[in-house]
Amino acid sequence: MADPAAKLGLLAVLASVAVAYALTLPKRRRSLGRRGAKPPAPLPADFPVTPAKVLAASKRVAPHVHRTPVLTCGCLDAAAGRRLHFKCEVLQKTGSFKVRGATNAALLLEDASSPLVTHSSGNHAQAIALAAKLLGRDAHVVMPDTAPAVKRAAVAGYGARITLCAPTNAARAEAAAAKCAEVGGSFVHPSDDPDVIAGQGSVAVEFLEQAPFLDALIVPVGGGGLVSGIAVYAKGLRPDLKIIGAEPALVDDAARSKAAGARLGFATGDVVPNTLADGLKTLLGDNTWPVVRDLVDEIITVDEAEIAYATKLVWGRMKLCIEPSAGAGVAAATGAAFRARYPPDAYPNVGVVLCGGNLDLAKAAKTLFAEAG
Ligand SMILES: Cc1ncc(COP(=O)(O)O)c(C=O)c1O
Repeated sequence: MADPAAKLGLLAVLASVAVAYALTLPKRRRSLGRRGAKPPAPLPADFPVTPAKVLAASKRVAPHVHRTPVLTCGCLDAAAGRRLHFKCEVLQKTGSFKVRGATNAALLLEDASSPLVTHSSGNHAQAIALAAKLLGRDAHVVMPDTAPAVKRAAVAGYGARITLCAPTNAARAEAAAAKCAEVGGSFVHPSDDPDVIAGQGSVAVEFLEQAPFLDALIVPVGGGGLVSGIAVYAKGLRPDLKIIGAEPALVDDAARSKAAGARLGFATGDVVPNTLADGLKTLLGDNTWPVVRDLVDEIITVDEAEIAYATKLVWGRMKLCIEPSAGAGVAAATGAAFRARYPPDAYPNVGVVLCGGNLDLAKAAKTLFAEAG
């Protein structure tokens, strides 16, 4: 090339391409690494929840539930050191995602007239009560006598009948079985019923449509229905997407089970510890454990002070009245363990499911929000 001006022009173009390439290197490395990422271990071929079933559930429940918004907040981003995207199931009908699974299960029950029966500490109870009302059925709900008054009032408000029991898993199961026999009811388990799990997975169907660029998803874990539905669908669609469960350290059965490679109960045996996150006080089941074992990348535990702090942060900064079970996910997203294991530069966009907002405001004002900060 004889013309010096043309030579200079070519050099300038080459230099700008090199700079542009260098600037995108971290992103390229990440996406190349992801393309080569090991696919998740497949669930058994006859596993009752599949991505197709979650998608079908999402379409089935769509006319009955809200497509909740995904919100962001600069203050929470600053606390996390990355961009957080919040799926606001706190704004869902009945105040939690639970209405998705309950409605899906109720719509799929073969016996179209039997009463719906369940046991729940509150949110699934409200969800079953509303689903029953929607389908013109009766609903009977067994609740532990420690369930927050606000949750009991809401269940009764939707027209369901309540039976109180001792706050143990065994007592709940026994009372629900007795109620089923008494009224000829159809039992809908709060977290281990495959149709409930598929319904909860509709959160992921919407979330990944609303925010397809997410690098990781943080989901609070109790019985594991929510995280299982989400993991089955999300790992099918995006095997590279990290699925992280958030669990109170006081009820860390999922974290200990995953570490042991075998399903474990509470460290305290049949006595259920009294975490602020009352929606997360349940154990993994026969259907949710394999998903947590094989498709959930990690469970991060958070202590009570972290749950309280994160809950208050969302109240104050996002003006969203989340309950502490949702605060557990926010605590994990803003905590040191998540940041250390999933660095912000490799995982810049993280989704957090704000799973519910049913709490006794008067009690919360006295306890959670009593001290400043
Ligand atoms: C608000 C809230 N978040 C999370 C959960 C945990 O859901 P799962 O039991 O499906 O893990 C519950 C369960 O009751 C809940 O009420």
